[in-house]
Amino acid sequence: MRISVIGCGYLGAVHAAAMASLGHDVIGIDVDADKVVSLAAGRAPFFEPGLPELLTGSVSSGHLTFSTDMADAAGARVHFICVGTPQKRGEFGADLTHVEQAFAMLLPHLTEGDVVVGKSTVPVGTAEALAERLEDTGATLIWNPEFLREGFAVQDTLHPDRLVYGLPTGTAGQITEAGEKARQALDEVYSVSLSDGTPLVVTDYATAQLVKVAANSFLATKISFINAMSELCEATGADVTRLADAIGYDERIGRRFLNAGLGFGGGCLPKDIRAFMARAGELGVDQALSFLREVDAINMRRRVRMVDLAREMCSGSIVGRRIAVLGAAFKPMSDDVRDSPALSVAAQMQLQGAHVTVTDPQAIDNARLKWPDLRFAPTALEAAEGADVVLLATEWAEYRELDPVVLGKVVNARRMLDGRNVLDPATWRQAGWTYRALGRP
Ligand code: UDX
Repeated sequence: MRISVIGCGYLGAVHAAAMASLGHDVIGIDVDADKVVSLAAGRAPFFEPGLPELLTGSVSSGHLTFSTDMADAAGARVHFICVGTPQKRGEFGADLTHVEQAFAMLLPHLTEGDVVVGKSTVPVGTAEALAERLEDTGATLIWNPEFLREGFAVQDTLHPDRLVYGLPTGTAGQITEAGEKARQALDEVYSVSLSDGTPLVVTDYATAQLVKVAANSFLATKISFINAMSELCEATGADVTRLADAIGYDERIGRRFLNAGLGFGGGCLPKDIRAFMARAGELGVDQALSFLREVDAINMRRRVRMVDLAREMCSGSIVGRRIAVLGAAFKPMSDDVRDSPALSVAAQMQLQGAHVTVTDPQAIDNARLKWPDLRFAPTALEAAEGADVVLLATEWAEYRELDPVVLGKVVNARRMLDGRNVLDPATWRQAGWTYRALGRP
């Protein structure tokens, strides 16, 4: 199958390389010329485990090419829209500029029988409006949300846990003839996953668009739920990690996504729940999602509480104190610093007068671009040199495995703030550290 993938960021670059590795002929299109040059040379423009291998394999086999020219998408049968939908400046809603631009530029190159597949996360109603604009081209739109997690993007793309197709429906709710034809083309693209038994949910546009934001809202709610419990634990002397273990044994609840700490960040969960609230308001059902305001508020409170805890540890003031922040990425196995809780806390402490040094195995370059005033060090030991407090903010394996005795030799004072509840308090206390964490005694 000849495929075009429009937008080569965290989603599109992985999707393009993964589809090419399955034997499809893929052209990746992006407006960023530097990114295209890098991808065409088989180099991943961001850190994503497994992507470099997939890229080099597919580029050298000739199945994967890249271009900045949308005209090169002509001739492909299936066109995936993978551009970003960030939060609008000063508003909760999603900024659809990139989707609009990609779609408008693609339109003149479409021919009868082409399939346009929307993967970007959009407010419900977007697909319906885009489909109308396809009417004169003879192309059909399918909404096919993407659920990949950064850090596991290659695995999630090649072995998704489910596929969702939102297809055009007629007045009686039945899938149209054009929809059925388009579906066959997408089935061919995903033939390997489908023959592996990946569950497929075939539905209408509205449901398909809602699936993505509903899933992310649920995940965000689960994290904020345990972080709310963490506040209760702090008020009562209970331990949120043991609480999570105990409730997680109930299969109806499950232990995953119950890790209390600094909360969620990244390019998806925060902006998706806000865009969902904004859309619900437009639809007149804002009450249905008012709980997401609380989910967002609990999450943001974690960051404030972390700075307060650092202050408590430094006898009431962090002014002039040296603080080492371990982690800048919004989560381990990623170099993405978009809405990173780690970086947000580091910047807050710096703004409040502390001398902050940040380290991260992958995200220092991105972090420096965002907060050039912070100091950066290549390793945890160098960042912690002379520190009055060490804050573990992103749970990279190398920070979880730090030796408290070795780290204890380079700091000024042995104070550990475990922002992700991943260290063993007893081990650190035995090595002479004052250990504090959110929701733990
Ligand atoms: C998320 C969804 O998981 C994915 O399905 C969707 O396609 C995009 O958004 P991602 O943003 O890559 O993926 O990260 P995820 O692994 O979901 O983590 C999000 C944030 O939640 C991170 O900041 C992480 O540190 C935090 N988190 C996660 C917690 O604070 N506690 C947890 O228990 C789990």
